[in-house]
Amino acid sequence: MNKINVAIVGATGMVGRTFIQVLEDLEVPIGELTLLASEKSAGKKVVFRGKVLTVETLTEEALDPQRFQYALFSAGAGVSLRFAPVAASRGITVIDNSSAFRMDPQIPLVVPEVNFSAVGPQDHLIANPNCSTIQCMLALKVTQELFGLSRVLYTTYQAVSGSGYRGVEDLERTLKGEAPQFYPQPIADNCLPHIDVFLDSGCTKEEQKMMDETRKILDLPGLPVSATCVRVPVKNGHSVAMNVTTEKPLDLPLLAKALASTEGLRFYSEGYPTARDASGQDLVLLGRMRRDDSFPNTFHLWTVADNIRKGAATNAVQILMKLMEERA
Ligand SMILES: NC(=O)c1ccc[n+]([C@@H]2O[C@H](COP(=O)([O-])OP(=O)(O)OC[C@H]3O[C@@H](n4cnc5c(N)ncnc54)[C@H](OP(=O)(O)O)[C@@H]3O)[C@@H](O)[C@H]2O)c1
Repeated sequence: MNKINVAIVGATGMVGRTFIQVLEDLEVPIGELTLLASEKSAGKKVVFRGKVLTVETLTEEALDPQRFQYALFSAGAGVSLRFAPVAASRGITVIDNSSAFRMDPQIPLVVPEVNFSAVGPQDHLIANPNCSTIQCMLALKVTQELFGLSRVLYTTYQAVSGSGYRGVEDLERTLKGEAPQFYPQPIADNCLPHIDVFLDSGCTKEEQKMMDETRKILDLPGLPVSATCVRVPVKNGHSVAMNVTTEKPLDLPLLAKALASTEGLRFYSEGYPTARDASGQDLVLLGRMRRDDSFPNTFHLWTVADNIRKGAATNAVQILMKLMEERA
């Protein structure tokens, strides 16, 4: 594969630093790596493949297609809204980790193993889904192909790293008995059914994102989906309990066999995976699959993943690698 030049926008953040690690781990052939963040980080040093790189300030001038052809954005929706269209208009292909463009009908929202075909040859802006959504998509896609989907319910148990450094610091702070500065209540010894802001419907924005993004990625605009999203005092690794109803009669052993042989998943037929098992690696771990006898053709499935890796950085780098293959 030819080498490409890449920029990371938000390179000093939790996802940004993981981008750097994942680019190393997946041995992506990079020529030059440009690191961009806010003015306060300019001059910071970061090591990539043994080479010391200097963080630069993100400005419109810094988005130079002569320097890089791809940009991985992870600096929040406001930064993406302002800078990603500028980069894309100059021919730089942006993979954006924020929520800014996910529900724009013109912009593909991609989990590469599920719907990479949504990306067209001219697309210069591609959205990476929400972390808790990403980890559910492949198992749902396998189920959809075998039996069709008629309803999906999610209950999430989301780690504080999902809020970036401020979330991790608030867990550490409140574990010491200090008052929270980031979450609305102490996250230590607690569960908060409150991720992102509340909407008029009574749902939180995180819950709405999971519902909307699931329908878009699976290309099932009418699929009934419901979610309750909960922040839990886990440092890293999101867990999601899914309850899924299929259109056709459900054959659970057949589904188990299909999930166990799907690349990107590790299926536990005995025991169960936890957030600690998922943290630091790229697979989505599945377990506790069982029939839900309270409703026809319905099953439960437990899923865990590293929300910073597969839930953010790894998914984006996998999109990048597929684009490199296609556009070489
Ligand atoms: N954490 C997760 O599990 C996760 C998963 C999926 C998606 N995301 C999304 O990814 C994005 C970043 O999340 P994170 O957890 O990495 O947050 P974070 O740890 O708070 O990092 C934020 C990054 O954005 C940079 N930044 C902030 N304002 C900027 C500006 N005006 N110009 C340039 N850079 C700026 C910061 O640079 P400085 O250090 O210089 O301030 C830092 O590099 C968010 O949109 C988030 O929703 C996060």
